[in-house]
Amino acid sequence: MHLVAPSLLAADFLHLGAACQIVNESDADWFHLDIMDGRFVPNISYGMSIVEQIHSVAKKPCDVHLMIEEPERYVPEFKKVGADHITVHWEACRHLHRNVQQIKSLGMKAGVAINPATPVDFLQAILPELDIVLVMSVNPGFGGQTFISHTFQKVRKLRKMIHDLGAHTHVMVDGGISVDNASAIVAAGADVLVAGSTVFHAPDPIRAIGQLKNA
Ligand code: DX5
Ligand code: ZN
Repeated sequence: MHLVAPSLLAADFLHLGAACQIVNESDADWFHLDIMDGRFVPNISYGMSIVEQIHSVAKKPCDVHLMIEEPERYVPEFKKVGADHITVHWEACRHLHRNVQQIKSLGMKAGVAINPATPVDFLQAILPELDIVLVMSVNPGFGGQTFISHTFQKVRKLRKMIHDLGAHTHVMVDGGISVDNASAIVAAGADVLVAGSTVFHAPDPIRAIGQLKNA
């Protein structure tokens, strides 16, 4: 059964507590928290204090997606405020292996994200070290964008690479996921679906999470 990780980026920030309660009470598996620095991506989201507050009420793991340059500068801080998993971007890391070891040495699950134009082949050497690969299905930085269909090929190829290794790495897909395309993404080989607008812009977010979970 695949996992669903609602992205709080699409939540009403004036009612963040209510959004956390929705995730807690729903079939969702992880909280997906998007951190943007205004440099790696052309947007700024939120930082440690918000993660800390979310973590204080979260009854499920906090999955932190770092869309930032030099993530090594902030990884220990995110651990302190409650991150259970940290995913860094392939495109933002000069010494990716060192970044992954840093995350794991602090006792967290380590993930690497790749942008839509980055081939999955670039992960071959690091794959045995990873707990999560995050295949971006939109260019990172904003919620509410359209799913890039080339993602299907990347997910299929990555799933085969993981299978050939005999590994149990999660394949997470993030961006433009809806109730309509969710089952095809899972069929291609994804086992974690991230969804922002599909969950928090829905009239009934708990139901939307249930629909993504049953896809
Ligand atoms: C985009 C973020 C996503 C975003 C997804 O850079 O990584 O997690 O919140 O939003 P939707 O599901 O609306 O595309
Ligand atoms: Zn994300």
